[in-house]
Amino acid sequence: MTKAVILSGGWGTRLRPLTCTIPKTLIPVVNIPLMERTVVKLIRAGVKEIILAVSVMSDQLKQYFGDGSKWGIKVLYTNEKEPMGTAGAVKLAEDLIDGDNFFMLNGDVINNIDYAEMLAAHKKYGGLGTVSSYVVEDPRRYGTLVINDQNRIEDFIEKQPIDAEGSEIKPMPINAGTYMLENEILSYIEPNRPVSIEREVFPKITEQGKLYAYEISGIWKDIGLPEDFISGSFMLLNQMYNEADNNQSKLIDSSSTIGSNVKITPPVCIDKDVVIESDSNIGPNVIIGKESYIGPNCEISNSILFNNSGISTNVKIDRTIIADYCKIGENVVIKGTEKSLVVLSTFVTVADNITLQSGDENFGVCHHESIKE
Ligand code: GDD
Ligand code: MG
Repeated sequence: MTKAVILSGGWGTRLRPLTCTIPKTLIPVVNIPLMERTVVKLIRAGVKEIILAVSVMSDQLKQYFGDGSKWGIKVLYTNEKEPMGTAGAVKLAEDLIDGDNFFMLNGDVINNIDYAEMLAAHKKYGGLGTVSSYVVEDPRRYGTLVINDQNRIEDFIEKQPIDAEGSEIKPMPINAGTYMLENEILSYIEPNRPVSIEREVFPKITEQGKLYAYEISGIWKDIGLPEDFISGSFMLLNQMYNEADNNQSKLIDSSSTIGSNVKITPPVCIDKDVVIESDSNIGPNVIIGKESYIGPNCEISNSILFNNSGISTNVKIDRTIIADYCKIGENVVIKGTEKSLVVLSTFVTVADNITLQSGDENFGVCHHESIKE
């Protein structure tokens, strides 16, 4: 069966301060690390062996996935000392890949791809590679694709400079970050130096007329920026709510305790062993990770809490991401704006009576920082 290589070795710079302590692909998306969501979907499509191309913070990923036996598959790792680029990372996995073809995935994307259907499309096209494509309103941060009516890619342009000719904000199909590749592609990657698959390999194969596009629809989001992470998470939360027939209680783990007179405005997802004390208002668009505590009389909306945080009494939180193990004092207000977010990294403490508000840009607080005034 086809194997999969998942890339998880970038710095995740734009997602700081969250990625100062958590590798981007282990960030929880509706309470489950994004990479785990991807691994589970690949397993459902029949994949039994997954190679994680890791570099930055590889220890945490190795610790989380181990040898894969917890998921009933084999998980292997590459040995990348420093980031070798998207193609360089896959080249290091060459000896671990066998068979005719393999999946290659950017590990930082939320999507609904049907991998089995993508493999079938790739076989039908008969090219060297098939790239998933998705239409976005503003393609400038992505690789853009020109696709002909036989699904062949005629042009692959990685992140055109914003002021370049022809670079404008208009809906276009972009590279959605999941590929089905013939092993032969590995011979296009020079060893022992950083190589970008998007800048060096795909343009060559496009020129030879051997790269195809597989269009996807539904949810798609690259979590590279805090605003994309939060909006992608809420897309998935909404989808889960719809799939639960709009029954909010199905999204609250039965081990959690919801106090009296707590008002929950859907969609809200609450993980295991959470305690929410009385008279709080939670929602809409709230995700609360396991073992979190919310004191009485709080208001939380449009926000994500990872695991194990404690929120005291009478706290208001909106448009905020709070990573693991934060402690928020009484009467605190934490608010983003329509355009910006507040982002607290792990182990942040905020003293009583503090107000934190973002301005034109996101307001981030580094891990272990303590805000006293
Ligand atoms: N192992 C390893 N080594 N992984 C890497 C490296 C590396 O040197 N560099 C990046 N990655 C991983 C990242 O962790 C991420 O999972 C994936 O490769 C893509 O890298 P990003 O840095 O997130 O790229 P991007 O989002 O700017 O652009 C890419 O994704 C877009 C779609 O989400 C490109 O593939 C675009 O063409 C594409 O449109
Ligand atoms: Mg990305």
